[in-house]
Amino acid sequence: MGKPEIIVTGPMMKTVFQQLDGSYVLHRLWEADEDALIAEHGEKIVAIATAGKRPVDATFMQRLPNLKLVANFGVGYDSVDAKWAGENGILVSNTPDVLTDEVADTAVGLILMTLRQLGEAERYLRAGRWEKEGPFPLTKATMRDRRIGIVGLGRIGKAVAKRLDAFRTPISYFGRTEQKDVPYRYYSKLADMARDVDVLVNVAPGGLATRHMIDAKVLDELGPDGVLINIGRGTTVDEQALIAALREGRILSAGLDVYEDEPRVPRELIEMEHVTLLPHVASASMFTRNKMAQLVVDNIRSYFDTGRPVTPVPE
Ligand code: DGY
Repeated sequence: MGKPEIIVTGPMMKTVFQQLDGSYVLHRLWEADEDALIAEHGEKIVAIATAGKRPVDATFMQRLPNLKLVANFGVGYDSVDAKWAGENGILVSNTPDVLTDEVADTAVGLILMTLRQLGEAERYLRAGRWEKEGPFPLTKATMRDRRIGIVGLGRIGKAVAKRLDAFRTPISYFGRTEQKDVPYRYYSKLADMARDVDVLVNVAPGGLATRHMIDAKVLDELGPDGVLINIGRGTTVDEQALIAALREGRILSAGLDVYEDEPRVPRELIEMEHVTLLPHVASASMFTRNKMAQLVVDNIRSYFDTGRPVTPVPE
């Protein structure tokens, strides 16, 4: 029997290729003509390794009749149609845990940057305005006494909450179910929590179930002193509603690491000085990305050795 064949949908950390190249035939989809590649190798493809840029949807998977595994680089796997995969006997794996600390650290950084306008202050200094115009204006918001509402208290949400405990800010959370073992206040309705907090931190994943759940109504409940932080997925927020709320002062500001149509960031947001914008870097440390890459390799190897990846996504 020949070596198992794998499609890699986009560029990945070198170590993935270094470790897999000898044992598997790797097809680099982004360098190939997709139709030609599938016509020639489609029947032999057993696994896909993906980093999310090219969606692994039903149409794509249907073209690979012997596909058994989709190994996603990233904890968020909204670019993979996991439901269709599950229904068709295809396993999906992701890369949880190894990025929890970095993402939680970035969330706290983004909260502080946004509340205290630290990015704006840095741009003020670099533009020589401190010398010419005097001190940077005092910020309206501070971390002091801010009530924080976390949307999605999973592994990352809990790590964010744990860090925020040190600031002694009251913490609430919204999610599908109440968790008995956490000391935070639970809300079953997002709009109700938005009404009671000052900072809404979205950690929720993408996908149909969460699409636009932070909409105009939720933003209005957050109110004119409210701040939205998003390190989950851009699709959870109705971006046009967010732009309108920011423009009309219906919320105070926002700190975003993720967007609806990455890497496109709406011009309106870029032009808003008081909004903090990061280019989807929450997990982007060398340490974490290497661990994520290793988990992609381990998931693929484990599937071929045991029939199960190490970290399958919940079914
Ligand atoms: C993840 O792992 O989901 C991060 O957002 C990087 O894509």
